Order: sequence, then structure tokens, then C-alpha cells
Amino acid sequence: MKVPLLDIVAMHAPIREELADTLLRVLDSGSYINGPFVESFESELARACGSAHAVGVSSGSDALIIALMALGIAPGDEIITTPFTFFATAGAISRVGATPVFVDIDADTFNIDPNLIASAITPKTKGIIPVSLFGQTADLDPILRLAEEKGVWVIEDAAQSIGARYGGKMSGTFPLAGTYSFFPAKNLGGIGDGGAVMTDDDAFAEQLRIMRNHGGRDRYFYDRVGGNFRLDALQAAILSVKLPHLRRWEEARRANAAFYDQALSGLAGVVTPRVMPNAYHVYNQYVLRIKDGRRSEFEDRLKRAQVAYAIYYPLCLHQQGCFAYLGYPEGAFPVSEQAAKEVLAIPVLTDQAEYVAAALKGEV
Ligand SMILES: Cc1ncc(COP(=O)(O)O)c(C=O)c1O
Repeated sequence: MKVPLLDIVAMHAPIREELADTLLRVLDSGSYINGPFVESFESELARACGSAHAVGVSSGSDALIIALMALGIAPGDEIITTPFTFFATAGAISRVGATPVFVDIDADTFNIDPNLIASAITPKTKGIIPVSLFGQTADLDPILRLAEEKGVWVIEDAAQSIGARYGGKMSGTFPLAGTYSFFPAKNLGGIGDGGAVMTDDDAFAEQLRIMRNHGGRDRYFYDRVGGNFRLDALQAAILSVKLPHLRRWEEARRANAAFYDQALSGLAGVVTPRVMPNAYHVYNQYVLRIKDGRRSEFEDRLKRAQVAYAIYYPLCLHQQGCFAYLGYPEGAFPVSEQAAKEVLAIPVLTDQAEYVAAALKGEV
């Protein structure tokens, strides 16, 4: 038996007809850029998440970039984030010419440690981008409180956490804004790239809409330099079909996560994910920690059983060549560096959870 990390085609099977009809509907509409498919999806997404505005954009990476551009972030500005995330979080900060300032993570949740942020704030700090990694929100309350006190904004990178909740409120809907990715492997994925910026702030939403169309309020008249950051109609239409199913897929992920929590508890060397008491985790990834330098042993077990796995992420961002200029030494963020050595993501939206657990136990 072979178990993929995620079988997207199998996931689409029950709604294949509807998806195929939608492709043709877009094709026959002739409306491929902006227009009704994008507008409908944006209002459905805003309603589903309880946000005043959903601004569809070209990817989760571009969602971060356009948010920073709309805020006028520029060289000389510092933005605080985590070194234990997908590259795009810090990449976006760098793309607008600002400086990423890293703060270590909490060992239990893999998310930025709120207690360490205050000491990283300087007069150049403009904002904080906490990442809600693997489908669990960062501990947002203390971050939002600190940001308010210091007069800086917060943008939650919720690329991996659509549907997750923190104290009952949806990930991605906290002030000032949150960003989603619709990369196919995300909990709500398109059949290509896409993303959104969520905000309750009317003026900020307007700036985002201007910036995604090159910075022009009206076509051919530009007050600001934006870019082409549009979500295309085809992705929007597909996402409209998939959005009503998000909860069902999320529940399947959570059920398998609960099964793994039980099945793997007590397995020597393996630590199952920790969930904050006020969090509703949606397990975009189910990520184990493998202690005592034993990760390759568990990788071998999975390989032998033909179970796909992934290491998110093998190298922290402060250790990447492109960020060497920031001057962080080895050991600068010990909790993140330790996590990079120990994490192991296993298939979580799968019918083969029992087999995966047995493989990890060396029973296959
Ligand atoms: C935490 C995080 N931020 C940003 C992104 C970028 O999203 P995209 O791939 O849609 O550009 C991703 C996903 O790939 C991500 O996981």
C-alpha cells in the first residue's frame, strides 16, 4: 500500500461533477478577470469567516506583499515574525524592502512566543506578522495587546489556518488583517494559486483593492504603484464550490488527529501535537516531534511502509543563505532550531490513518 501525504484528486472525487461544471461555466462566461465569480467568492468567504472584507489576490505570498505595500512598508522599516515558517512570510517582508526581525517560537505550538516579542520592538518596528502554523492560531491575545500598546499593527499569516479558531473567533479575522493561501494543499485549496486578505477595516480594504489593480482607483489613473495581484475567476469559482465543504474536510482532519493522538501516545521518542485550550486546530498538517535524534529512524519506518511524510521545515529562516545579511548566528533561536531537527508531518486527511500509525510503530 502507498499512502500519499495528501490525495487531492481523491478529495475532489465526491464533488468532481460540480467542479467540472464550474470550469465550463467560467469558460463560457468570458469573464476571466475580476467580475462576478470573484465578487461572489469574496462575499461568501467574508460571510463564512465573519469578516467585513475578503479581498481575493493571486496567492498567499502576494496577500502578505500587497498588505505590506498597502500599508506603505518600505526600506528602513522592521517587521517582527517567526523564523519557523514557510519562506513566504519573511520573503514578503524582504520583497517590500523592509527588514524581517525574528523572534523565537513556543516549543509546544511551534508559533511565535508572545513573551519574547516586546524585547524585539524598536522605534523602526511597524508591525508583527504572527504565523498560525500547521492549522493552529498563534497565541493572538497577548500579541494584539502588545501591538496596541506599542502602536504597531498585526497581520496574521493564516495561510495554513483557514477555519481555525482562537477563543471562538476565526483565524484570519483579527485586526488589522489576516492572509489566506488557496494553494492546492491548503485546507481550502484551488486548482492553482490564490489567496485573500481579510480585514474589518474599510479604508484598508479599499487600499488593497486599489493595489491589486496596479494602484489605480480607476483604470489608467494611478495614485500609487501597486501590481497585478488579482485572484482569477477560475480559481474563485472553484473555491466557491469547495468552501461549503471546508468544515467536512476539517472534521475529517480533526478525527484523524484525535486518532493519532491516542494511537501514538506513549510511543517512545514521539511527541504528538499540543493544542492551546482556547484553540480549535484544523490540522493543515499533523506534525510530530521526534526526540532524541531519532527522526531518521521513524523516516525509515515510513519509507519502508510507503507512507509519504514531510519535514516542515528543515532549516529556519534566519539560517537561510538569503538572510545571512541579517547577521543572526547559529543558536540565535534555539527553540526553532530544535524544532527544525525534530518535526515530522504525516498524512492527516487520509483513509489510512491506522496503517500510518502502525507504520510509525514499526508494525508494517
Ligand atoms: C505560512 C505560509 N505563509 C505563506 C504562504 C504562501 O502561500 P502561497 O503558496 O499561496 O503563496 C504559505 C503557503 O505556501 C504558508 O504556509
